[in-house]
Amino acid sequence: MTQTTDRNILSLRNVSKRFGGLSVITDVSFDVPAGARMALIGPNGAGKTTIFNLISGFYQPNEGEILLESRAIQGIPSRKRIGLGVARSFQNIRLMPHLSVVENVMLGQQARAGGILDMLKPLSLFGRSAWHREAEQLLADMDLPTYPGEVVATLPYGVRKKIEVVRALAARPKLLLLDEPAAGLNAAETDNLTAFLKRISETGVTLLVVEHDMGLVRRLCDDAVVLNFGRKIYDGPTATVQDNPLVLEAYLGPRHASKDRQGAAHVA
Ligand SMILES: Nc1ncnc2c1ncn2[C@@H]1O[C@H](COP(=O)(O)OP(=O)(O)O)[C@@H](O)[C@H]1O
Ligand SMILES: [Mg+2]
Repeated sequence: MTQTTDRNILSLRNVSKRFGGLSVITDVSFDVPAGARMALIGPNGAGKTTIFNLISGFYQPNEGEILLESRAIQGIPSRKRIGLGVARSFQNIRLMPHLSVVENVMLGQQARAGGILDMLKPLSLFGRSAWHREAEQLLADMDLPTYPGEVVATLPYGVRKKIEVVRALAARPKLLLLDEPAAGLNAAETDNLTAFLKRISETGVTLLVVEHDMGLVRRLCDDAVVLNFGRKIYDGPTATVQDNPLVLEAYLGPRHASKDRQGAAHVA
């Protein structure tokens, strides 16, 4: 495990993003300490996935800086950011349904192999079986069977969600961005995923997690950043996030903010 010497693995400094005339992210700043499990929450359309797209380089900010281990990365192309240690999973599953579990995990190794075309070269140097063995080992370390002979399309949804996380881990990231990892999972699958993400965190990977399930957020994450209409409205412990008047107002509207504290647990 490589420990960063920086206290913060990631910092956003006054980041804004506009699409045409529409301000989607406005002057957002926050820090993610190395090794943290931090949540990024907020109502639908608040700008959470856009923040992930800015961190992973799919979008460029109009203003502000994105620092990875104190280095400004906003000018660096998306595929190179994987090599710098940023990996992500997507809001919708993006596995290759016709490939096997191991093959899908091997797709995540590509960033280290240098990209799709370059992978052929390192593959022959490292040996195809070495990459294959490593992918199998990673799945075994994460207590996931490899389901020999099966393509991922045939596997249960909860298993596919975990495989997507393992594929992101195959890039050996320092920072893993997870966009709604528990969406579509039942309570038992969500518990299982929470334990799974804790184990990943214990290997030294920093987690930034977008999630609507506040039970998962409270069990997994010590701290949360809350967005509403593209602005940061809270940055602090998850334990007190649902007592914050601005957060209550964002989720419940101004009329309910002062009286309905219980409600936030359900709508967050
Ligand atoms: N490429 C884009 N072009 C125009 N508007 C966008 C684009 N991406 C996101 N948006 C808008 O930005 C807002 C925030 O979206 P998003 O980041 O997906 O929210 P969240 O993930 O919090 O639900 C939404 O109003 C969405 O329509
Ligand atoms: Mg989203």
